Amino acid sequence: MIPDDLEVLDFNRRLKSWYLKNHRSLPWRETKDPYKIWLSEVILQQTRVAQGMPYYERFVEQYPTVFDLAAADERDVLRLWQGLGYYSRARNMHFTARQVVGEYEGKFPETSEKLLKLKGLGQYTAAAIASFAFDEVVSAIDGNVYRVMARIFGIQSDMLSNEGKKEFAARARRLVSREDPATYNQAMIEFGALQCVPASPNCAVCIFSDRCFAYAHQMQGQLPVKIKKLTVKHRFLNYFIIKQGDRLGMYERRGRDIWKGLYDFHLIESKTAAATPDSLTISDPAFQNLLKKGRLTEIPKVYSHILTHQRLQVRFWWLEIPENERIDLPQGMAFYNHEEIEVLPKPILIDTVLREESYL
Ligand code: ADE
Repeated sequence: MIPDDLEVLDFNRRLKSWYLKNHRSLPWRETKDPYKIWLSEVILQQTRVAQGMPYYERFVEQYPTVFDLAAADERDVLRLWQGLGYYSRARNMHFTARQVVGEYEGKFPETSEKLLKLKGLGQYTAAAIASFAFDEVVSAIDGNVYRVMARIFGIQSDMLSNEGKKEFAARARRLVSREDPATYNQAMIEFGALQCVPASPNCAVCIFSDRCFAYAHQMQGQLPVKIKKLTVKHRFLNYFIIKQGDRLGMYERRGRDIWKGLYDFHLIESKTAAATPDSLTISDPAFQNLLKKGRLTEIPKVYSHILTHQRLQVRFWWLEIPENERIDLPQGMAFYNHEEIEVLPKPILIDTVLREESYL
């Protein structure tokens, strides 16, 4: 046996025994069903375990099999996803369910290579499903795993760069347990989530403290290296909630946009934080007409919404139209009543405002 193998064996032995003592019992760890594992991984890419758990449970209850999800209405899927953000994930998930049913008779492909061909599945998710459901010897490297590896082995290349990813992947290929890749991957993720946490890890009680590069060099704060090239755009959104009786005017958002398929109100974007509706450029003639006929009330609170590449500053106005007034709505807008709005998929910001305004 070459020393390298011994090192790997020792690493795996320590990691597994730590996992068996310390891991959380989570529903997607109690199953080999690739559909449920896939659901959990898509949700957990979007949020942490505590927040993701109720979503996972609702999805499994509402759509117990890939056939149920494939048969669902996209609107209902988006509604169930509401609050997790990044809605293209939910749309891709729905699309993929249909693909698995249509092209694979409802059976998920059983290797990471074939899983990668499904829409929305990247290296990580494909490897996670292949190892958890089918025991393929492949390493699933998520943010937790990058952190654990960078610190223990002192990998200093940028985990967001292509070369960096290759270096991590090569190391992980050597490390992954041949006997039990599923437990190895769960254990690496769990070790990053519970022990090797991003800020102030408690290294004094760590099973790897005698061989951890970051601990020896006090570099826990510097590793992993992530060089972000994000430019953040500030946007100012002004929403008009057109109300007549119990009904509100809403649009289904179309086109390629993060909120595609969700419902929102009449929106006017401005270059700066607009103080009054008078300072906005109103080009839609139907909306101009509504402004003349209705009563405008400002919602004083300014909402902020943070997305990966955008900071939104959002204001809302009620535009109440008298009940007896006959009106033309702007193109694409329709009226929905209270019960309909409750079940429409909406950006969480819209849902929040309607609840804070006691409409929902
Ligand atoms: N985050 C991503 N995948 C996970 C998993 N399988 N268990 C816990 N947290 C995770």
